[in-house]
Amino acid sequence: MLKRISMLVVAGLAAATLTGCGGGGGGSGSGGGDGSITMGFSQVGAESGWRTANTKSVQESAKAAGITLKFSDAQQKQENQIKAIRSYIQQKVDVIAFSPVVESGWDTVLKEAKNAKIPVILTDRAVDSKDTSLYKTFLGSDFVEEGRKAGKWLVEQYKDAKDPVNIVELQGTTGSAPANDRKAGFQEVVGADPKFRIVASQTGDFTRAKGKEVMEAFLKANPDIDVLYAHNDDMGLGAIEAIEGAGKVPGKDIKIITVDAVHDGMQALADGKINYIVECSPLLGPQLMDLAKKVVKNESVPARVVTEETTFTQEQAKTALPSRKY
Ligand code: AHR
Repeated sequence: MLKRISMLVVAGLAAATLTGCGGGGGGSGSGGGDGSITMGFSQVGAESGWRTANTKSVQESAKAAGITLKFSDAQQKQENQIKAIRSYIQQKVDVIAFSPVVESGWDTVLKEAKNAKIPVILTDRAVDSKDTSLYKTFLGSDFVEEGRKAGKWLVEQYKDAKDPVNIVELQGTTGSAPANDRKAGFQEVVGADPKFRIVASQTGDFTRAKGKEVMEAFLKANPDIDVLYAHNDDMGLGAIEAIEGAGKVPGKDIKIITVDAVHDGMQALADGKINYIVECSPLLGPQLMDLAKKVVKNESVPARVVTEETTFTQEQAKTALPSRKY
């Protein structure tokens, strides 16, 4: 029976592209008793510049904190994340951290971690589980607030406009916390004035390629687009290619708001192709390692740790770009 379980785990690992880093070995289950900590981390994928910067932050911070990191890339598939988490339970890691690709469907595997007495930290994205005892803390951005910030900038820009403002929206991965919350926060603000009309809204899965493809379709179906609201920089950058391909000028003919503030997005903002970016910081690694050390020692941690973030206009992007870390 044990052999069969091991084989299943091995099959799961192949799909999840598991790689160890930060010192090898691991799986000690020492609970920090001998001072060593092994963390199993299940990453969403490598869909965006934000995600690449987040992965780097987690890997570098684990190394700096002396935590052995077992890292897996789920290629944006929930089943791969579930397999990776099960393998970490099997390996008796000291703590599991993961960034859930979608919000729902985690209770079973989180209960398995709880039964195995392995603490879980949610990082970057939340789950919609009612049982909050299934994880110790959630470290990440307030995505609803990010959506509100995007909406407030738009309302201010068009405060004197009398004509309708036609908006198209590129949503993030369907069912993910940032897609749900950034949509809700934006809608809450612009929905208060009927002149703001969201004429089309579709997922671009947080990728540049999908952002371009969906924007091409938006442009064909909607001749009078005034504003694009993209849930991340990558989709916005793909959409810029589509807008230019249609003979329009991004940032002028169509105003563009995005979320993240990764280097390429900030460059497009400084170049005048994007009009406003709401920051979402991927540099969660140092705080994640601090929280991991505490939960392994069974010390109390806040149930929610919200990332500090700002916003950027075109002028602010020019100033910030030279010292931008990602
Ligand atoms: O969960 C954070 C989001 O995921 C980022 O805004 C996006 O770029 C990434 O893919």
